[in-house]
Amino acid sequence: MKTTQLRHLIPAGFLLVVLFSITSCNEGGKTKSHRDAFIDSLLSRMTLEEKIGQMTLLTSGWSQTGPSMNEDYKKMIRNGHCGNVFNALTVEYNRKLQRMAVEETRLGIPLLFGYDVIHGFKTIFPIPLATSCSWDTAMIRQTARLASKEAAAAGVTWTFNPMADISRDPRWGRIAEGAGEDPFLASAIARAKVKGHQGRTLSDPLTLAACVKHMAAYGDPRAGRDYNTVDMSLRRLREVYLPPYQAAVEAGAATVMTAFNDLNGIPATGNKFLLTNILRNEWHFDGMVVTDYTSIPEMVDHGYARDEKHAGELALNAGVDMDMQGSTFHNHLKKSVRQDKISEQQINQAVRRVLGLKYDLGLFEDPYRYLDEQREDTIIHSQQMMDHALASAKESVVLLKNEPHEAGQILPMEQQPASMALIGPLADSRSDMLGTWHAAGTDSLVTTLKEGIEQEFPGTTIHYARGCETTGTDQSGFDQALAAARKSEVIVMAVGENFRQSGEAASRAHINLPGVQLELVKKMVQTGKPLVVVLMAGRPLAIPWIDQNVAAILNAWHLGTRAGDAVADILSGDTNPSGKLTSTFPRTTGQIPIFYSVKNTGRPLDPDNKYTSKYLDVPNDPLYPFGYGLSYTQFEYENLKLNRSEINFKQNLQVSVQVKNTGQYKGEEIVQLYTRDMVGSVTRPVKELKGFRKIALKPGEQKQVEFTLSADDLKLYDPKMNHIAEPGKFKVFVGTSSANVLEESFTLVKP
Ligand code: NOJ
Repeated sequence: MKTTQLRHLIPAGFLLVVLFSITSCNEGGKTKSHRDAFIDSLLSRMTLEEKIGQMTLLTSGWSQTGPSMNEDYKKMIRNGHCGNVFNALTVEYNRKLQRMAVEETRLGIPLLFGYDVIHGFKTIFPIPLATSCSWDTAMIRQTARLASKEAAAAGVTWTFNPMADISRDPRWGRIAEGAGEDPFLASAIARAKVKGHQGRTLSDPLTLAACVKHMAAYGDPRAGRDYNTVDMSLRRLREVYLPPYQAAVEAGAATVMTAFNDLNGIPATGNKFLLTNILRNEWHFDGMVVTDYTSIPEMVDHGYARDEKHAGELALNAGVDMDMQGSTFHNHLKKSVRQDKISEQQINQAVRRVLGLKYDLGLFEDPYRYLDEQREDTIIHSQQMMDHALASAKESVVLLKNEPHEAGQILPMEQQPASMALIGPLADSRSDMLGTWHAAGTDSLVTTLKEGIEQEFPGTTIHYARGCETTGTDQSGFDQALAAARKSEVIVMAVGENFRQSGEAASRAHINLPGVQLELVKKMVQTGKPLVVVLMAGRPLAIPWIDQNVAAILNAWHLGTRAGDAVADILSGDTNPSGKLTSTFPRTTGQIPIFYSVKNTGRPLDPDNKYTSKYLDVPNDPLYPFGYGLSYTQFEYENLKLNRSEINFKQNLQVSVQVKNTGQYKGEEIVQLYTRDMVGSVTRPVKELKGFRKIALKPGEQKQVEFTLSADDLKLYDPKMNHIAEPGKFKVFVGTSSANVLEESFTLVKP
């Protein structure tokens, strides 16, 4: 009996599973030859339309009653013209869609289900910029692991994460989604996220395929305006922007997403240099490349493609395998093949990669392996998720300032104050705590700061007043806030940005505290009461007035489901804050782009010489530098030692330093190592991060912290763009932030 006849008797999906098992193999069907043979055999039976269907990704929607999908799209799934869906959630719903693909199409190829699982799925962890401030790659890996587990339990198979875009411009709202300004740290974090999402093997139904995005340099749009042009030297691209994507690819990321922006004149989605020369040929990436949302047809608006058909050809020729939401491949690719603008070979190549991913996820073996209601019930919001939401939130908070008020030290509040005024538009907000990429986050489970404080300070009378909104000019709530403050011993304010003010399409021209919140802070300062400002935002905010006039400032970002518990724990001193900034805080928007790893220039800043590199109207240092963050305790650094003053290209340099907890509290310190190449064939930054360690110290305890450096860590791109280390003198710095370090030097010599 032919397969086509058989089809009428049994569902297509069953046929695929049979085919999967009879294609003989070792190790339970997991050998490369089995994979190749299976895919080749399937491909040989596919029509051109079905192939293009596998290269098509369309969104599901959400209606009042739950998940829903446009009827046209459903029809496309049923006839094999759409092989992948994103934004579809819940086991029940995804099973319905999977059935359409598996049981109603000719070949029964299962769907991929994509979703933006960026910092959690239903249980929301802190925004990525926040977790990056923990510098704790094990914790970050676990965050990705658990986010994957929860999303996979709801039928998702693929996350559009990690976002590995470096950003040095806090006007850009998507700085919230990244790991900050430094390529070394961001690479370590990108690796951790890929490993966390993908687990040990993709075929484990509690893992997701990762997707590194947005290739490339999406984090440097001109003037910080989202989707704007990116124009940068090849040197800057390779030194700063590419390393985190490369690290994620090398960590085994299954997929890569293109970017919306153009790069040096070529839109990323049609950029062969990025998607083929670098990604495939240099980095040997053999996974699947998906576009960003409608970024193929957008090449017409870029003025790079004549029309949508042309845009599709440019994308495929550049190295794209799957079209997200553009429908361009679906609408035009067949014609492009007929006209010989692209070859069926190229299409086969792309389809192989898509089928390869489905194979690796185990979907051919069992298309319903991600769809198990019982798992969904037990995993979502499980204790493990809620506990990790709290632990990761506590580690993400950065103490920016902690000076005594005239009434004494405010933080930590070890003695419960008799009364506390809790003021500000974010003090009792649930949804804002979830930050950008709420995903499917459950608002109702969020602990607000008010709830956290009520729980943590049972002996304190709380006088809560919202005061104002995060936006707008309404000051009518100020009086109530003042009244609350006047009758309280201490004031805690929660101010900053609402969840819509950062993330995609949320660039801001002024990164100050929005609305009338600063006026509200000023009113509170005027009361003379001890005041703690808790900043909750998706980006570094320029807060010079607050820095000068408020004794205690905690930067709490958007901390997710357990935000309120975490901040309350830190206020009381149950948890000692240990986060360090991963993006520089400017004093004013005019200093942007601002980052620690600058070049010295020929005229480095000299306050006594006008003709040096500086602003006349603002101080030239940042408000808070990269790597900065305080603790309730104090750490002292001494005895920075190198085991030799010279190394050759084969030797290691051992760097050690002693760190002592000289304060009264146990605490964690993030010890940072930077180097400077003093003379190069190209100019080098004044500092580059090359290592970090997070250590825990009890009061009075001292630890020796060791780092190892070799010539590999000292590489630069020379004038011909060779990635090499050059002999010469180097400085090495170890310290508590990029601006507070001990210093030594050594020489790299030829063997
Ligand atoms: C557009 C965003 O740029 C991207 O990061 C995201 O993954 C897709 N939309 C899908 O939601």
